[in-house]
Amino acid sequence: MLYGNLALMDLGILDGINEVIATTEDKGRINAAPVGIVKDGDSLHVRLFSGTHTYDNFLASGWFVANITHDAWLFAETALEDLAPDYFMRRDGLPVLKGAEAWGLFKGEPFALDIIIAKVELAEGEVMRKDFRACNRGASLVIEAAVAATRYLALCTDSYYEELIRLQRIINRCGGPREREAMDRLMDRVNSYSHI
Ligand SMILES: Cc1cc2nc3c(=O)[nH]c(=O)nc-3n(C[C@H](O)[C@H](O)[C@H](O)COP(=O)(O)O)c2cc1C
Repeated sequence: MLYGNLALMDLGILDGINEVIATTEDKGRINAAPVGIVKDGDSLHVRLFSGTHTYDNFLASGWFVANITHDAWLFAETALEDLAPDYFMRRDGLPVLKGAEAWGLFKGEPFALDIIIAKVELAEGEVMRKDFRACNRGASLVIEAAVAATRYLALCTDSYYEELIRLQRIINRCGGPREREAMDRLMDRVNSYSHI
């Protein structure tokens, strides 16, 4: 087990915006959603918009687990949907994605505003396996598409939908079957939710 901010680099949390999947819990119900942890030198913070389970759970508990993974499919899936309980396991009592390569427990003292901007600190973490692979544009763009999808559904701006169509073309060319499936599922959800 790793402890404290000195272990950030071991967990792959570097300067810039670290896209992770945050797991939080409310009365035993585990929630997972993508979140960016912003690291600028020694400063570390998250920006959480109200109206999400992650916001509510972090506000109530003051913690979230950052699941570090390359798997773009998990980002697309958790951006718009909940995951079934069998996607999770417990490490040191905490909810961790089975598909994560590493995880870190982050704690902070959030205040209830429209947007929480909270300084956070790494309390403990663990590297479960080290995985490397070549960069794949399709995988990166699935994450970009998941961001566009959440914004499109929140703001209903046409330019986000156009971006999704553009990204899907490149994902179909550069991604593997998992990335293409992630994008197809994302588009199915965007198309069905946007009619509601
Ligand atoms: C890559 C990525 C990064 C995201 N980062 C954030 C973030 O830092 N803060 C935030 O409030 N929402 C962020 N979002 C949007 C949330 O994940 C999205 O609103 C999600 O539906 C919240 O789910 P929940 O209600 O289960 O918490 C991000 C989405 C993606 C795809």
